[in-house]
Amino acid sequence: KKVIHAALLGFGTVGTGVYKVLKNQEEEMEAKLGSVVRIKKIMVRNLEKAAVKVEDPSVLTNNWEEIVNDPDIDIIIELMGGMEPARTYILAALEAGKHVVSANKDLIAVYGKELLDMAETHHVDFLFEAAVAGGIPIIRPLKQCLAGNHMKEVMGIVNGTTNFILTKMTQDKMEFKEALALATELGYAEADPTADIEGLDAGRKVAILASVAFNSRVVFDDVYIEGITKISAKDISYAKEMGCDIKLLGVARNTEEGIEAYVCPMLIPSTHPLASVNDSYNAVFVNGDAVENAMFFGRGAGELPTASAVVGDIFDIARNMKANCCARIGCTCYKTIPVKKMAD
Ligand code: HSE
Repeated sequence: KKVIHAALLGFGTVGTGVYKVLKNQEEEMEAKLGSVVRIKKIMVRNLEKAAVKVEDPSVLTNNWEEIVNDPDIDIIIELMGGMEPARTYILAALEAGKHVVSANKDLIAVYGKELLDMAETHHVDFLFEAAVAGGIPIIRPLKQCLAGNHMKEVMGIVNGTTNFILTKMTQDKMEFKEALALATELGYAEADPTADIEGLDAGRKVAILASVAFNSRVVFDDVYIEGITKISAKDISYAKEMGCDIKLLGVARNTEEGIEAYVCPMLIPSTHPLASVNDSYNAVFVNGDAVENAMFFGRGAGELPTASAVVGDIFDIARNMKANCCARIGCTCYKTIPVKKMAD
């Protein structure tokens, strides 16, 4: 196909970013892909509110049936977040033979296996590069470029809000509450920051990273989680005296006894590459038997960085459609490795 039609589900921050990045790519796209991806429909809750953000308001709809039943639409881009109706919509789209791109870490950390199985059954792609560490390429590198490794460990700073808070507590000696208030004021933390500061958001990303890195299936419930609410400025200054920093790390390790997956504030030597990852930046540090150490660094959230990862997935699908195949990034083969229960 010369023109590939896609539909966006959700038109918040990331959805708007995807719309903008695709527009910016309009001229280059054909040379890159041999085809052009166009957004045919955008599903929104409030048609009036969304109308100011698009050139042609007739792309807007609040009717899912109109999208899933349109044989012209080959790619569904799910950016609504949350469990339902996202799960139902993705399953129905895959079942209808449509490829799906999603940034929904909450959903994938729990139902990833079901979604990948459905994609496999229907010979379509389900890609989710943006679900972990936003704009930083990490799913595809683990699955493809580093596939020749036995991955031993993946660890990283995968939540920008808590990294910003810890940075302020370290550099400006702020107390936790003060740093959280600043994160909220600057728009890093959500109105309800629980998922960030309690480590739940990072835990979801660790479940996905562990699954991909070790070619197994690890779910959110398997991850031991501790947030940063008990860290004080005093803890940080003691850490500094020992030549260390405190970072909220997400860790996944493939050991002889099984997979260890956890999120907790950890002391790391100030000389470690992860110690210099400050403000709201994210980074993922991997260790494999062949590559040794490699680190991926960048923006883990935000309109355009996250859209960058989503559009990369869309382009991959467009390329594969041309070659009449699937990317199969996350699906088909895996082996079940037991996950160690971590003690409190
Ligand atoms: N709340 C998340 C963060 C957004 O602070 O990193 C990206 O998942």
